Amino acid sequence: MPNELPVTETPEMQPHEDAARPEPDRTPDVDAVHWDARAYDALPLPHVEWGRRVVAQLQPRPGDRILDAGCGTGRDAALLLDVHPDVRLTCLDASPEMLAAARERLGERAAYLQVALGTPGMPPADLPPFDAVMSVAAFHWVPDHDALFAGLAAVMRPGAPLVSDCGGAGQLALVDRAIEAVTGEAADPWEFADVAETRARLDRAGLEPLRVELRPDPLRVEDPALLERYLATVILGGHLRGMPPAEHAGFVRAVRLAMTEPVVDYIRLEILARRR
Ligand SMILES: C[S@@+](CC[C@H](N)C(=O)[O-])C[C@H]1O[C@@H](n2cnc3c(N)ncnc32)[C@H](O)[C@@H]1O
Repeated sequence: MPNELPVTETPEMQPHEDAARPEPDRTPDVDAVHWDARAYDALPLPHVEWGRRVVAQLQPRPGDRILDAGCGTGRDAALLLDVHPDVRLTCLDASPEMLAAARERLGERAAYLQVALGTPGMPPADLPPFDAVMSVAAFHWVPDHDALFAGLAAVMRPGAPLVSDCGGAGQLALVDRAIEAVTGEAADPWEFADVAETRARLDRAGLEPLRVELRPDPLRVEDPALLERYLATVILGGHLRGMPPAEHAGFVRAVRLAMTEPVVDYIRLEILARRR
């Protein structure tokens, strides 16, 4: 991933005066992650249901500070604000494109923080503590879950819940086999953790694991064109990065044709934990 952008918290992005303080150039080598936010939002995403499951578990009080870690285009944040309009929400993501889309969707209803989770010292530990952290389909993009959980625990008040859905152990085995058939090499850019290691990592970070479970949720996409769009936008971004754009479509098609079934074999890792 390119190392280009510092933590970005522009003052006009902060409607809540204490929601996110500027930390200019705090980590000049922070990893920016790049997504096609528009193409992402145009897809029929199972993430919508994953987000509903996460938001349904939060019971914030008015005024609570909530962090959406890996907010993407702000869809789950919008849902949270629809149900709990009185919370103070901070949307965090490593992708400037995703944050821009979230800001377009939510405007002044949230604060915004460009941070690469899993980077030591991130999010900045001197932010005012959060009363809850939610996260949908993001943690498996972070290679170092010890650093991820330590960073989140550092910005949570004691007793604060962490509610997350992300990819878990065994996810995308079918898709991975197709990628390997095309590239000839094992290339798995994700951290699909299992229950035991996740419980141990949470515990080490000072987060009490209350419920950690794997839940298979395969997605069948019969329309080949839609499946290719889905693969390109949601799954293969890490593989396409660094490849000349002219080769993208051919690569995505080859992966689709190498899949033994038109199924994105999702296995969700659901986490409910509490800051000690
Ligand atoms: C599949 S999207 C999920 C977005 C949104 N939560 C949703 O459910 O639609 C994964 C998100 O994680 C973000 N992400 C990946 N690695 C990250 C990191 N290290 N720190 C923060 N965000 C990250 C991506 O930029 C992207 O917005």
